[in-house]
Amino acid sequence: MTSHLTIAIDGPVASGKSTVGRIVAQELGCRFLDTGWMYRAVAHAGLSAKLDLEDQDKMTRLAERLTIKLVESKRGERLLVNGIDVTDQLHDSRVEQGVVPVAAIRGVRRILVDQQRSIATDGPIVMVGRDIGTMVIPDATIKFYLTASPETRARRRYEERKNTPDSPSYDDVLERLVHRDKIDSQRAESHPADDAVIIDTDGLDASETARRIIDLIEDA
Ligand code: CDP
Repeated sequence: MTSHLTIAIDGPVASGKSTVGRIVAQELGCRFLDTGWMYRAVAHAGLSAKLDLEDQDKMTRLAERLTIKLVESKRGERLLVNGIDVTDQLHDSRVEQGVVPVAAIRGVRRILVDQQRSIATDGPIVMVGRDIGTMVIPDATIKFYLTASPETRARRRYEERKNTPDSPSYDDVLERLVHRDKIDSQRAESHPADDAVIIDTDGLDASETARRIIDLIEDA
């Protein structure tokens, strides 16, 4: 049981949890961890090592050997894997698709969840993902689950990616998002925790969503 503030924000693909979580962490002076980056880092390492990303044993052994570190730099948060900065590659199409089978591997999840729990014990934190309220910190001080329609979420992800080198079309984004939703929803822990506050963000931008979360934390 942690005695400091732990805020869990979960939600499906592109529900805005990372943008919102960052604002909340900044406003409250907490650390911020996007656990999706950790799954993406394992997928990236598997691709770099030319492994079959569906090979459960090999991918679990790879995850065991990785040292994943989040550091603050002049360029914002950076993710280092075995000392190498891979932040700029975490949203490449190959990683975006490769992370789906990797996040389904039980061994990989066990290793990352253990690391996330240990990070949560270090002090006040906002943690975002799919299973933070249900699995990583079930005793979090307060839990939120962000939702929005697939079309709103696809539009957000499309806008985010549109000026990048391998920017996908809106239709591609929507198709991949629906596919990932389907896979995520098959995992028991990827559902809202029973005690999570559910926020429909369809008509809200990131700062309005963050404001609502902060108000609810302050009223709690
Ligand atoms: O931003 P987006 O929702 O597209 O993805 P993300 O949060 O960066 O997560 C990348 C992948 O890791 C997704 O396919 C999630 O299913 C998976 N993931 C997970 O299984 N558990 C988490 N705590 C965070 C992400």
